[in-house]
Amino acid sequence: MTSSPMKAPTRSCLAVVLAAGEGTRMKSNRPKVLHEIAGRSVLGHVMAAVTKVGAAEVSVVVGPDRDDVAREARNIVPSAHIFVQRERLGTGHAVLSAREALERRPDDVIVVYADTPLVTAETLARLREPLAKGAAVVGLGFEARDPTGYGRFIMLGDELLDIREHKDASEEERRITLCNGGLMALRGDVALDILDQLETKNAQKEYYLTDAVSIARRLGHRSAVVIASEEEVHGINDRAQLAAAERMIQERLRQEAMVSGVTLVAPETVFLSHDTQLGRDVVVEPHVVFGPGVTIEDGVIIHSFSHLEGTHVASGAGIGPYARLRPGASIGPRAKVGNFVEIKNTELGAGAKVSHLTYLGDASVGADANIGAGTITCNYDGFGKYRTEIQDGAFVGSNSSLVAPITIGKGAFVGSGSVITENVPDNALSLGRGRQVIKEDWATEFRDKAKAAKHQSAKKV
Ligand code: UD1
Ligand code: CA
Repeated sequence: MTSSPMKAPTRSCLAVVLAAGEGTRMKSNRPKVLHEIAGRSVLGHVMAAVTKVGAAEVSVVVGPDRDDVAREARNIVPSAHIFVQRERLGTGHAVLSAREALERRPDDVIVVYADTPLVTAETLARLREPLAKGAAVVGLGFEARDPTGYGRFIMLGDELLDIREHKDASEEERRITLCNGGLMALRGDVALDILDQLETKNAQKEYYLTDAVSIARRLGHRSAVVIASEEEVHGINDRAQLAAAERMIQERLRQEAMVSGVTLVAPETVFLSHDTQLGRDVVVEPHVVFGPGVTIEDGVIIHSFSHLEGTHVASGAGIGPYARLRPGASIGPRAKVGNFVEIKNTELGAGAKVSHLTYLGDASVGADANIGAGTITCNYDGFGKYRTEIQDGAFVGSNSSLVAPITIGKGAFVGSGSVITENVPDNALSLGRGRQVIKEDWATEFRDKAKAAKHQSAKKV
């Protein structure tokens, strides 16, 4: 479900990502913006959106000693410039921390919050549009169900005259429901001139980014408004808001999957990652979880209660129920992975079958091979990991242990219950188990003897 990047706009664009918040309400040892939704950090979602909107330059403003946040930002946008905001003196001050980037005077500047991950690249593109038509500042507004706490948009027709923070607003202004989503676009040729005039004469003694609107007006410029849904400007301050963001992003991802031709039998029970790719006519039964890095080709069925991560599944394969596919699993066309099977770092050839109760790790399984129930690749000796190679058409009997490194040749058989420690040649049978012994009438004699002994001891009492 990764969609293609948007057409490169002709105007240059700098994105300033504000990530210097403390996030105390998360009650976490991890910075707020590094918490994850849909398999990616909150910051990661924002970085992806600004990249997609065509911001060739991305500046990230982080708090002091936040190397972890800087690292995650560079993980997604390697060229990102990191600026440190030493003191938390307000949103305007945070943007000014990226002065060096602003001094290069890009055509467009967009300011986004690292804790607002639902904003789409489409909305950021709309936010830039009025700049090309001459507006100096563009605010992102939304109709708030409850406007308490938000900045209010003071409008005159289509023109944005001012943004009043809740704490500074009059009774009358507080009745306004058109609120500031926080994100903002500024024309790069005047952005610094405007921001350098910010002051702290307000209720919170902070440099408010929102004052850019009234300053622009004083300098003879015009400000405009672009409207978004309340969902898109949903910010994350605590765990409940984190869960709400997850729910909203999951809804979007499920919708995109279904629109692209995937059947989700009970969509509300399927959890996707930001990068999950599902082909046409894939069927996903209820209660399936996709971690990051999963690609499923056309016509695959994924039965209930399966968990997939870092996995590729080729067309026509069947997975689960209760399958666990871990990073490096690659399932061939028409292959079958059944219940209670765990597969890690293993390729399964076309038409191969692993139907029940099996662990395959660090292995390759050839085309049309059959792996019996209870097969285990013993890939680890406490120090190193070793590979198992099961070649085309091999048949591994149930409840076998394959002690790696080991090769099972083409078309070979492994007798059920074997512990295999030596390579098996092509088309051979290998048995690695105690030989079966038959003792005729042993049970009858045993029972007769036991009964007699019991009878004797009863008489003695
Ligand atoms: C801000 C807006 C308000 C808007 C609201 C939407 C201002 C003055 N107010 O208020 O109009 O309705 O967002 O959620 O802009 N940050 C820094 N450094 C700072 C201060 C903030 O990096 O010194 C970052 C935070 O990490 C956060 C973002 O800026 O990502 C917004 O800061 P926050 O304190 O939440 O702003 P609000 O008071 O909610
Ligand atoms: Ca906020």
